[in-house]
Amino acid sequence: MRKAFVLMEDLESITAAALEEFAACADPAALENSKARYLGKTGQLSELLKSLGKLSAADRPAAGARINEAKAKLEAALNRRRAELADLRLTRQLSAQALDVTLPGRGIGVGGLHPITRTLQRIETLFHSIGFAVALGPEIEDDFHNFTALNTPEDHPARSMHDTFYVEGGMVLRTHTSPIQVRYMETHAPPIKIIAPGRVYRVDSDATHSPMFHQVEGMWIDEDVTFADLKAVFTEFLRRFFERDDLKVRFRPSFFPFTEPSAEIDMSFGGGWLEISGAGQVHPNVLSAVGIDPERYQGFAFGMGADRLAMLRYGVDDLRLFFENDLRFLRQFA
Ligand code: FA5
Ligand code: MG
Repeated sequence: MRKAFVLMEDLESITAAALEEFAACADPAALENSKARYLGKTGQLSELLKSLGKLSAADRPAAGARINEAKAKLEAALNRRRAELADLRLTRQLSAQALDVTLPGRGIGVGGLHPITRTLQRIETLFHSIGFAVALGPEIEDDFHNFTALNTPEDHPARSMHDTFYVEGGMVLRTHTSPIQVRYMETHAPPIKIIAPGRVYRVDSDATHSPMFHQVEGMWIDEDVTFADLKAVFTEFLRRFFERDDLKVRFRPSFFPFTEPSAEIDMSFGGGWLEISGAGQVHPNVLSAVGIDPERYQGFAFGMGADRLAMLRYGVDDLRLFFENDLRFLRQFA
């Protein structure tokens, strides 16, 4: 027969060792391993329980009760340690994520306006000063406003003048800002005095052509607005824009279905000429189509390339650079 007091001595040393070990476990995995060593199926405490059978029947109940007490004590200690370790982990996580509000800030860079935006703003300011309002229109345009209403029927050869981006549903990415003329005249009666800036799209790409570029349409319709007014307004505009009174401007005869007579406006630069704008007296058919009496009203329209103006003003030799979004290039204008 085994002596009960020997078993009890074992129980005390096992309990003490387990408590010490639980307290020393630094992470949940180690704690669970340690639990298995004492409370697991083949753990030291379980083995001790099994050895109860070796005690005398008289000693057995008291010893069994003590072992169960010890087991409950260890389980409580285990749960406390589990909770402590979970707390510790949370505290560590929180302190790792903590913001040090005493560190100096990184600062926010001051942005700048894109050179084309600055150019459009400059154009708007100059035209505003002589009484032109700003009108806008959609970039995805219907065939009617982009072509038909501008005296350019389906089979007109001028439709092939623009290589057009057609999109679904018979719509186009507008090839020029001229459809805004039509939209404005559909809802406003003369006198009309507007500019209409915006993005336009064509299948084009070289140093002076980009597939997406910006035009500014201009239109002045009243009872007696003539081609001489167009020459005066546009020439004066260019001289103010470039701040040069001696700037040479040329009106070169040309053709547009929606103006008659028509001209391309060029300006002198670098010993040559660069085309800035198409222009002309608004064709009577265009006025009639929107219900304006061409016998009573007349006037001019133009459509200039804003990117070309930016190119000349800032001395940039390839206008596609404006749209590559290379900050080293763009920062020069900010
Ligand atoms: C037109 O687009 C006419 N709608 C202009 C007009 C309006 C005439 C009103 C009469 C009355 P044109 O295709 O020439 O015309 O284009 C006008 C200007 O846009 C050109 O002079 C040029 O400065 C600019 N431009 C044309 N294509 C490009 C391009 N791919 N990239 C940059 N600028 C361009
Ligand atoms: Mg042209």
